[in-house]
Amino acid sequence: MNSTLPTMDPYRHHVVVCTGSYCSADRRGRALYSQLAGLLQREDMLFGPDRVKRSEVPCLGVCEGGPIVVVYPEGVWYSGVTPALLERIVVEHLRDGRVIEASVFHRLQS
Ligand code: FES
Repeated sequence: MNSTLPTMDPYRHHVVVCTGSYCSADRRGRALYSQLAGLLQREDMLFGPDRVKRSEVPCLGVCEGGPIVVVYPEGVWYSGVTPALLERIVVEHLRDGRVIEASVFHRLQS
């Protein structure tokens, strides 16, 4: 094995939050991204093999109906994410494994 390669601890999900200004004019994604860390900490999902990685990006190529949040590996795209919906995503989707279908506008093709 090449010892210069980076390493990655195991994780269960990766959540990507758009913090750009086109999908939500007041950049509500920024507040969501801050909120996400606290929710994951509360639900004990920041560490260990079942942890949830999180990333913020300036644009996800949707640019309307935001804030936009994507959850992998499912490839589930949520639109219009409010603080209340983000909490449901963490508890119902990430913790309990139930996608919130009513807020999904796109899915990765399998
Ligand atoms: S700015 Fe959020 S999807 Fe483009």
